[in-house]
Amino acid sequence: MKFIYIKTWGCQMNEYDSSMIISLLQKKNEYSLTESVENADILILNTCSIREKAQEKLFHQLGRWKKIKNKNPEVIIAVGGCVATQEGKEIFKRANYVDIIFGTQTLHRLPKMITEVEKHRNLSIDISFPKLEKFKYFLQPKKTGYTASISIMEGCNKYCSFCVVPYTRGNEISRPCDDVLFEISMLAENGVREINLLGQNVNAYQGPTFDGKVCYFSELIRLVAEIDGIDRIRFTTSNPLEFTDDIIEVYKDTPKLVSFLHLPVQSGSNKILNLMKRSYTVEEYESIIKKLIIARPNIQISSDFIVGFPGESERDFQETILLIKKINFDMSFSFIYSARPGTPASEIEDNLNIEEKKKRLYILQNHINVQTMSWSRKMFGSIQSILVEGVSNKNIMELYGRTENNRIVTFKGSPNMIGQFANLKIKKIHTHSLKGELI
Ligand code: SAH
Ligand code: F3S
Repeated sequence: MKFIYIKTWGCQMNEYDSSMIISLLQKKNEYSLTESVENADILILNTCSIREKAQEKLFHQLGRWKKIKNKNPEVIIAVGGCVATQEGKEIFKRANYVDIIFGTQTLHRLPKMITEVEKHRNLSIDISFPKLEKFKYFLQPKKTGYTASISIMEGCNKYCSFCVVPYTRGNEISRPCDDVLFEISMLAENGVREINLLGQNVNAYQGPTFDGKVCYFSELIRLVAEIDGIDRIRFTTSNPLEFTDDIIEVYKDTPKLVSFLHLPVQSGSNKILNLMKRSYTVEEYESIIKKLIIARPNIQISSDFIVGFPGESERDFQETILLIKKINFDMSFSFIYSARPGTPASEIEDNLNIEEKKKRLYILQNHINVQTMSWSRKMFGSIQSILVEGVSNKNIMELYGRTENNRIVTFKGSPNMIGQFANLKIKKIHTHSLKGELI
């Protein structure tokens, strides 16, 4: 038995890929997962390059692992993910003790690459883009709780000027609809109640069907909603660009689709959106939200924001703040712009100093935090449906679960409720969680 240690940076897609790497390696019962770097025979790093210092972070980590390899030269070090896809052999040039470099689309070849390295002790590298091939090798996603994520599409064609994803994950490609539905049915049979449909742009989903047709995203959600046992559906991430009316319609007739939508706008200034090559205007974004509210009056919206994009004036920034107030976003992931090598935005002159960028980020996050709290306060006294996930860490007499809008609620209940939905009355509002009472 050999031991693998895996470190994962970045998005949910990377988490998903890492879980697939683990199940692929465990398939033959030759490998077991370890939490201890010192005990590992194979060290795997699944990297992310979406924001700054990805390379430095990688070489820092590799430096630490080099010491382990110095002690035990038999250890195999494998680097995968977005930095590996972008940098390829350059990684080996700087760290010649790395044995394997694999890409975001070639992780299923890892077991073979490990065998090769064990035999020949030469660098094994494969960062090609064989479309969807990896999914043929992936095993059924293992149930790790009562919620599960499933990848429905890969890559992105949008080429926003700041973003590396199209270069590291390749062009958009959708998995066949029947494969997705089959996997979700299997998860449901194993007790999964909530499903998260994953992809860089899930609303661009166009999955081939068994009879040669195309299944669009709106149809896919309705089909997932028909699967017995699946009672809650989420998706991450969608893009305002193709958030078409047929998707908005689903909110009218599919209650299993949560009343919470992460729809990243990035900026509230049309000038900046144009420089970002987002291909929509603030007005178009607002119009989508208006239609969504008509379809689902209680919907809550969250977003990603980039502050300090090259050329962002104080006025542009104020337009973002205005939009934040207008939409009344419930939460956000917000970042200072980070120039990514090879992207068009990295060529735009950037005159704004880092202190000003930090100040803007702070102001933006403050506005969002106030709004998050006010959305939470509105929940006081309301009845919320919770998917009970487990026993609370803080108090073993309590259980915890999540609301549709992603709030963690703790409450007194019995362990046989874990994995079930429960209706709670919200009794207390804390900054990061809520307290409820069974009704
Ligand atoms: N498909 C999604 C974005 C996925 S990338 C969309 O259309 O919005 C996740 C988030 O990382 C982005 O929404 C953006 O806010 C942030 N991000 C991407 N590249 C970045 C960069 N160069 N600098 C700062 N933030 C970035
Ligand atoms: Fe990136 Fe834009 Fe696609 S942010 S993931 S290129 S939609």
